[in-house]
Amino acid sequence: MAEKTLSGDVYYPTEEVINHANANCEELYSSAENDYEGFWAKEAENLLWFDKWDKVLDDSNKPFFKWFINGKTNICYNCLDVHLNTPHRNKLALIWEGENGDFRTYSYFALHREVNKFANVLKSLGIQKGERVTIYMGRVPELAIAMLACARIGAIHSVVYGGFSVEALHERIDDSQSKVLITADGAYQRGKIVELKKISDEALQRAATVESVVVVKRTGHEINMEPGRDMWYHDLMALPIANNSHNVEIMDAEDPLFLLYTSGTTGKPKAILHVHGGYMVGIYSTLKYVFDIHEDDRFWCAADPGWITGHSYIVYGPLLNGATSFMYEGAPTFPYPSRWWQMIEKYGINILYTAPTAIRGLMRYGEAWPNRHDLSSLRLLGTVGEPINPEAWRWYYKVIGGERCPIMDTWWQTETGMFMITPMPCVPLKPGSGTKPFPGLKVDILDEEGNPVKPNEEGFLVIKTPWPAMLRTIWNDPDRYIEQYWGKYPGMYLTGDSAKRDEDGYYWIIGRVDDVLKVSGYRLGTAEIESALVSHPAVAEAAAIGLPHEVKGNAIHAYVILRTGHSKSDKLIEELRQHVGHEMGPIAKPEHIEIVDSLPKTRSGKIMRRVLKAKALGVDPGNISTLAE
Ligand code: PRX
Repeated sequence: MAEKTLSGDVYYPTEEVINHANANCEELYSSAENDYEGFWAKEAENLLWFDKWDKVLDDSNKPFFKWFINGKTNICYNCLDVHLNTPHRNKLALIWEGENGDFRTYSYFALHREVNKFANVLKSLGIQKGERVTIYMGRVPELAIAMLACARIGAIHSVVYGGFSVEALHERIDDSQSKVLITADGAYQRGKIVELKKISDEALQRAATVESVVVVKRTGHEINMEPGRDMWYHDLMALPIANNSHNVEIMDAEDPLFLLYTSGTTGKPKAILHVHGGYMVGIYSTLKYVFDIHEDDRFWCAADPGWITGHSYIVYGPLLNGATSFMYEGAPTFPYPSRWWQMIEKYGINILYTAPTAIRGLMRYGEAWPNRHDLSSLRLLGTVGEPINPEAWRWYYKVIGGERCPIMDTWWQTETGMFMITPMPCVPLKPGSGTKPFPGLKVDILDEEGNPVKPNEEGFLVIKTPWPAMLRTIWNDPDRYIEQYWGKYPGMYLTGDSAKRDEDGYYWIIGRVDDVLKVSGYRLGTAEIESALVSHPAVAEAAAIGLPHEVKGNAIHAYVILRTGHSKSDKLIEELRQHVGHEMGPIAKPEHIEIVDSLPKTRSGKIMRRVLKAKALGVDPGNISTLAE
């Protein structure tokens, strides 16, 4: 047991938690510290390689790091095939529940068969190794099947979050030059149908590269099917071509696995590229150690597969570990606030991993809802996506975890692919802190000049060691990769977050320092919201900022200058909100839009969002010497 010497509000691990852990974390920290590459090599040896690597890390062309040089593998093979000749064969790989109560399960055998069949379908549509496939669906098993099938044949998947809309989808299809789009007729969300196919049709009018559209039937409502282009998933899966013949592509460790678009400081979203080898090793190990995955665990990551959390820890991570992953289609509180707690009891979930915004949303309904259910199967809890306020942490710990489940507050990013700053079960916890870097990682907090800040001072969070699941580049834009992540402090990865480190060496994330907003845990760029607003004929200029919100963390506030000939009205403001919803998706709809005559800008014409924010909050805007007027 750790000596009780830490300062502040500390939750020390119990003997039970420590004894259960599948590794001694002190040993993990010291072995990674002593031999970083050796640590990762040992982890990689737990997975299957068709050819072993000859070198763990190649850093000869920084910042384009490579891992497991000349190793040959396939992440899908490691998720499915390796389990077929083991007792896992008939174990559940995936349990799914729909918002309307529909329910499906897949054993490892069944999931392998479905993926293999669909991989052959994709091949029959002409998809070859290295080609891109966009996947735009709700949270249904076919989403995981489609991702795994792409990985299996070496195609690069690009999953677009099902809550995005026309322009967001179009941009992502266009940038990735996808040949196939896999979507569904619709998705259930809070009892309503999200018109996925209708949105896809509109996006495809703007995007030229897609030759075939595969449509999963989820809702069964009437949709348009374009002859020669659109095909039902179930029809394709019934064809002789959808057979179970072997089709695994042997992939180099550095071959691309997926693109995932995320928001950056400026302009369009960028496609983060992850690869088969290092990504696989990184998420396999982080999930195993941080969530202490055991043979019989049922792991529920309640994120959306359309974001990195779902890629790494709904689909790939649990399957690599031979665990059972649970996926739920709907919203946490629909149709009643105990929906989640009911499913934890029903399926005997052992580990729940969610976001602070969901916890805050559930907390509002009080303890009576979770208290009605037997949550004793839970052993560990997790949180991700934004800083968790200590009040929400304590509620989660006490009411959901029954004061026995440690909370893994995992800090990471689309770019990092895997957990970076995170506790492990043996680490004493402080509510609101992600505690320490994962074994072997060197992390620091720097001032503007690149000097490490003093304890409890705020600074820029950087990562000083390469890690296997790191992004390899920005698709089609290596210069932006270099500049954005490695440009500020040479040799160090800039996270875009500010943070503090306390006197015990514990990290506290404060938030983004760039023009990226976290709204209900979702990452959005102010530039994207602004360009959605400006695409409306009445808008000349727009600025978006995030203001604190009790449940969402941040709420979007927008300031708009109208074109001449348009005048301010409540009707127009509502129309602008709807327009952003139509172009970007409901999550990007501004909470509040204000029509203004001018925006604060620097002399070079850059909008000073900081000044807008200070004004909205009624605080001092600080240095405004660069303000033009
Ligand atoms: O600001 C940090 C915040 O989420 C950002 C990354 O967003 P995204 O790429 O969408 O990935 C989210 C899920 C991995 C980070 O730059 N963030 C993520 N996890 C935490 C967090 N902030 C505080 N605490 C966390 N645990």
